[in-house]
Amino acid sequence: MFARIAQRYDLMNSLMTFGQDARWRRCVVEALDGGPVPDGGMVLDVGTGTGRLADAVRDRRPGRSVIGVDFTVEMLRQAPRDLALTAGDAALLPFADERFDAVVSGFLVRNLADLSGGLAEQMRVLRPGGHLIILETTPGPHGILRPLFTLYFRQFVPLLGKLVSGDSAAYSYLPESTLAFTEPSRLVSLLRDRGLREVRARRLGFGSVVVIVGRKARISSRFPEQEAAQ
Ligand SMILES: C[S@@+](CC[C@H](N)C(=O)[O-])C[C@H]1O[C@@H](n2cnc3c(N)ncnc32)[C@H](O)[C@@H]1O
Repeated sequence: MFARIAQRYDLMNSLMTFGQDARWRRCVVEALDGGPVPDGGMVLDVGTGTGRLADAVRDRRPGRSVIGVDFTVEMLRQAPRDLALTAGDAALLPFADERFDAVVSGFLVRNLADLSGGLAEQMRVLRPGGHLIILETTPGPHGILRPLFTLYFRQFVPLLGKLVSGDSAAYSYLPESTLAFTEPSRLVSLLRDRGLREVRARRLGFGSVVVIVGRKARISSRFPEQEAAQ
């Protein structure tokens, strides 16, 4: 599906978020600045797609090395030529344990067939003390905005997708996968179970997206009393 929409993916994102997607990626980059990525440190962008998030991370601190990984080669072909990219599956990342100082992803995790396994993979390649940052859509804001959001997503987005990318099926998947996705609070608790600490979630876009930031525990959670003392 991502192969089919690759060419118009960035344009569609800008149109359907009214340009806010760039701001949301900047929030990820800012969260990264608050973390422990040294100059020359390595950042992994999982499900990098057309590389927009990886590019934003690199622009902010040219001293950092950024690698984007994605299993849709057609999406990778739309990325800036000078980005470091590799084809690979988020379910089995082609990297050694604790290879990266930070791991980020934008709009990836709701696409994972095995969410818990995919999060475990991201934690595996992250060094202890490194930051994991996830940007993702949510099932929508709470309260009266939710029906409006659902209407917008179910009616407007597939229509726009058909007009712009000629693919209403892909842009029906987007709202349906978003509306069916887990609430941020459950995502936060899954991440805690996987050893992420100091986890915080910031809702953006009237609550329609969330940025989750946390730090990988330095020691095994099999010794919780030592971890609490960190
Ligand atoms: C909605 S796009 C997000 C692209 C980009 N991160 C962004 O911020 O716009 C989701 C991307 O995740 C990729 N993807 C989905 N499941 C994946 C998996 N299991 N392994 C690697 N990439 C995956 C898709 O190919 C697609 O490029």
